[in-house]
Amino acid sequence: MKIVVIGTGYVGLVAGTCFAETGNNVCCVDIDKGKISRLRDGDPVIYEPGLETQLKKNIKAGRLEFTDSAKEKVGDCDIIFLAVGTPTDKDGSADLSYLLGSAKGIAPYLKGYTLVVNKCTAPVGTIHKIKDILSSGIPSGVKFDVASNPEFLKEGVAVQDFMYPDRVVLGVETERAAKILYELYEPFVRNGNPIHTIDIKSAELTKYACNCFLATKISFINDIAALCEKLGADINSVRAAMATDQRIGKHFLYSGVGYGGSCFPKDVQALISTGSDCGLELPLIRSADKINTLQRKRFLQKVIDYFNGDVKDKVIAVWGLAFKPQTDDMREAPSIYIIEELMKRGSIVKASDPVAIKNAKQAIRGNVQYFENHLDAVKDADALLLLTEWNEYRSFDGERLKAYYGGKVIFDGRNIWHSEDIKAAGYDYYGIGRS
Ligand SMILES: NC(=O)c1ccc[n+]([C@@H]2O[C@H](COP(=O)([O-])OP(=O)(O)OC[C@H]3O[C@@H](n4cnc5c(N)ncnc54)[C@H](O)[C@@H]3O)[C@@H](O)[C@H]2O)c1
Repeated sequence: MKIVVIGTGYVGLVAGTCFAETGNNVCCVDIDKGKISRLRDGDPVIYEPGLETQLKKNIKAGRLEFTDSAKEKVGDCDIIFLAVGTPTDKDGSADLSYLLGSAKGIAPYLKGYTLVVNKCTAPVGTIHKIKDILSSGIPSGVKFDVASNPEFLKEGVAVQDFMYPDRVVLGVETERAAKILYELYEPFVRNGNPIHTIDIKSAELTKYACNCFLATKISFINDIAALCEKLGADINSVRAAMATDQRIGKHFLYSGVGYGGSCFPKDVQALISTGSDCGLELPLIRSADKINTLQRKRFLQKVIDYFNGDVKDKVIAVWGLAFKPQTDDMREAPSIYIIEELMKRGSIVKASDPVAIKNAKQAIRGNVQYFENHLDAVKDADALLLLTEWNEYRSFDGERLKAYYGGKVIFDGRNIWHSEDIKAAGYDYYGIGRS
């Protein structure tokens, strides 16, 4: 099939590359000319395991190309995917200006029948706004269908998730649209995972329901972790025992400094806003959001309390800046709040991350000192904070650390270390929800 993908961010680029990988001819479009020029050279721009290899392979095979102008391509394709950002607007709702703008941008150039698919996370009813825009902008006589195909990939394993999805959700209103999308996705579900072909509103809501459920699960375990600290219980023991209940499961049940990223925070806000528009309070989802904000504050307060309320001139080393491992995405990363709050109180912050330093420099205000090698960041530090659970931090080597770090305390914001190992190395240990 001939496919155009509008937007080459984490979703558009991965989707476009994977569609090319399964033999389609794909053209990816972005308004960011600098990005397009790098992508043409096979530079994926973002850090995403496995992406660069597939990108280069499909460019070389002539199945994947990039342009900053959608004009010529959208008139000669079977499907157009819209995959632009839908960030949080000032009032918490989803800002649809990029998405509706992209629909407006393509409308005049459609020629034959085209299926226009929204891949962005956008509130129920958005597809019908897109449909209205297309109807009033397309040349007369041109036919089109719209569909919603929410994306469930996880940054850090995006290529793997896209190639082998747990399920594909297709929100359609015509047989023709269903057939085209089924054919496109069939090669991705040869393992027997389902394609759910449902109505458009349900498809749009499914994406929010999934993200809000997962965010709620994280906030739930973080609330229980706070209780563990008060009662002298250990969240790791509680979690492990909970997780063996098949009704609960082990995923998204890890306590930490809270969720971040480009999806959970904004999607939780957007669903709350959708609820308000319908006169519903959605108290559970509001609580998930509230607990998440509280969780960063609780962690920060632990650090401040350790230094008896005064962190001025304290040198704080931070390991891990990205909102989660295996990505360079800094959007809504808990590290931003924690570091900025420490610096407001006069701390000197020395930070390291395997891949996110470049983006962290844009995201974090203030004079953070950055180090490529995480061990260099702890020299002269008074405290070490672990904020992202990168693999390279997981094995705790007390002897090696002592050669670099002469401070007394370690705050493990992701519970990746054993407190006994840290104490045996002579450091005080503070995790999340651990006595
Ligand atoms: N990032 C994720 O993990 C993830 C997962 C599932 C769903 N989503 C959803 O997918 C959508 C895209 O997210 P993302 O993280 O890929 O966004 P992103 O911010 O990484 O990328 C968006 C891209 O769209 C481009 N763009 C904006 N307007 C354009 C236009 N008119 N024409 C062409 N390009 C344009 C931007 O320059 C940017 O490169 C969002 O709705 C998001 O909620 C994201």
